[in-house]
Amino acid sequence: MLPRIVLVALGAFLMTSPAMAQVDGPKPFGKTADGTPVETYTLKNKNGVTVKLMTLGATITEINVPDKQGKFANVVLGFDDVAGYQSDRNQYFGCTVGRVANRIAKGKFTLDGKEYKLAINNEPNHLHGGVKRSLDKVIWRAGTARAEGPGETWHGVEFTYTSPGNEEGYPGSLKVRVLYFLNPRNELTISYDATTDKATPVNLTNHSYFNLAGAGAESVLDHELMLNSDEYVPVDKTLIPTGKPAAVKGTIFDFTKATRIGNRIEKLYDTGAKGYDHCYVLENDREKNATLAAKLRDPKSGREMIVSTNQRGIQLYTGNFLFGQKGKDGKEYKQRSGVCLETGGLPDAVNQPSFPSIILRPKEVYRHTCVYAFSAE
Ligand code: GLA
Repeated sequence: MLPRIVLVALGAFLMTSPAMAQVDGPKPFGKTADGTPVETYTLKNKNGVTVKLMTLGATITEINVPDKQGKFANVVLGFDDVAGYQSDRNQYFGCTVGRVANRIAKGKFTLDGKEYKLAINNEPNHLHGGVKRSLDKVIWRAGTARAEGPGETWHGVEFTYTSPGNEEGYPGSLKVRVLYFLNPRNELTISYDATTDKATPVNLTNHSYFNLAGAGAESVLDHELMLNSDEYVPVDKTLIPTGKPAAVKGTIFDFTKATRIGNRIEKLYDTGAKGYDHCYVLENDREKNATLAAKLRDPKSGREMIVSTNQRGIQLYTGNFLFGQKGKDGKEYKQRSGVCLETGGLPDAVNQPSFPSIILRPKEVYRHTCVYAFSAE
């Protein structure tokens, strides 16, 4: 698997250069409500696969991949313009989420004896880093990037952002970098790193909603999903973990074998989650190479996506709160018309003593790799 290449490449040979054929950008995309320009970059490989990214939220706005007949479609939900991304139709489409993705119970945590209070933006909890200055809502600096692996050159984009101390209530000034690389094997690698000058929680993720039949297709209930995990995190009605992870065996949460997403989801319709919105535990280590986390397949188009990561968890979210909003090309995004597979730490880890810590301290480096690999047959 490729993550090894990435780590080698990033460690030793990362270069930036302004004029590379495989990366088209920066290109103007429009302006935010306060007049700041937003730019896009498009990655393209020799197979014609393209990935479009933008500086608002270091966001993936499009991923165009072929089906088994070679027909291309964009497989992630998004909007045509910046106004769409800044509207309340946007439920974190394709963005980089942080500083802490997922929920923090009651928006509170205690670190090194001090209590921190965060915005309650998902009653009664804190969700996805806050309100105005969470990582999805800020403009990132961007530049093209290149990495040399054995016999292969990867082209990509580097996004950087420094979140000042106390931004959205989080301690420490946090320097964040997100690298996106598309390689000749249709693998999109997202590589995150971060450093801080004061202990602070960090849990980044990407919030792309996938529909392998093409964004705008009715639902993902017919997609088949495999999750490489024996345990999930049970949650209360506000989606906060109730305790220790539980075995998936014999439950509606079991995706150890490829299973149609829609098979058992109805049992969750009357819960606070309204569908799958659960974190699965992966046997991984932040510092190690990425390993298999999930496989998603649309039987009709034959498109498949394999997710690998070095993180401890993967959140399965079946677009339960989508409400029929209008997205890209006038398409309607109905409930369950996209599925997110968000790699990262476990939810509410700052308040759950038995979960792996997400605290980053000065001199440490947060490292997160997530690979989305596309194929079709
Ligand atoms: C996440 C959460 C969901 C929902 C979406 C955004 O993935 O787990 O509950 O809040 O973001 O709508």
